[in-house]
Amino acid sequence: MTQDELKKAVGWAALQYVQPGTIVGVGTGSTAAHFIDALGTIKDQIEGAVSSSEASTQKLKSLGIPVFDLNNVDELSVYVDGADEINPQMQMIKGGGAALTREKIVAAVAKKFVCIADASKEVDILGNFPLPVEVIPMARAYVARELVKLGGQPEYRQHVMTDNGNIILDVHNLRILDPIALEKAINALPGVVTVGLFAARGADVALIGTPDGVKTITQ
Ligand code: A5P
Repeated sequence: MTQDELKKAVGWAALQYVQPGTIVGVGTGSTAAHFIDALGTIKDQIEGAVSSSEASTQKLKSLGIPVFDLNNVDELSVYVDGADEINPQMQMIKGGGAALTREKIVAAVAKKFVCIADASKEVDILGNFPLPVEVIPMARAYVARELVKLGGQPEYRQHVMTDNGNIILDVHNLRILDPIALEKAINALPGVVTVGLFAARGADVALIGTPDGVKTITQ
């Protein structure tokens, strides 16, 4: 099976977590895009979606799924999104698609976070994938210097502006042994909007696409 077929399998498997009559939190990326395709087939059974990026919003609307402003929604029963890395504790690195801040906001509102990923995303220790950090543009150099002090090697993601008008620093060479502590430390730096470490609030369920089928991990 190709990697995209594994992503498709988990995207469609996530439909089982969608409750009829509710508004669904929707992530960003190529795996989440398969979930949106699946959601389109049951659009008459849901109220709509809250999206984590302009790209996902466009796709949802193109399939006729109503997209709600998060400020007008009291609760989300589920948030479904991909990951760049996921560890056995279901903590994740996210933000390869630069949508980490909105992803973290929508995930925070949802009662359940369902992570959908192909098996290549499973790791024992997070950090091989460069950790994305969304930064206010004027703080770029300062935050980069602070990230070096934390042991990383930040690299400015050229020609990328987030949906919020900010820049991304990708932090290389990390071996994240205490994800919650690093998430707190980076979030505390002035100028940082969000770090793409989802550690204090990880996933509640992970659907992992393997050549032998979809593996479900719960806490
Ligand atoms: C988007 O900013 C990310 O958090 C994605 O969820 C992550 O990069 C996984 O992307 P793919 O599903 O495209 O691998």
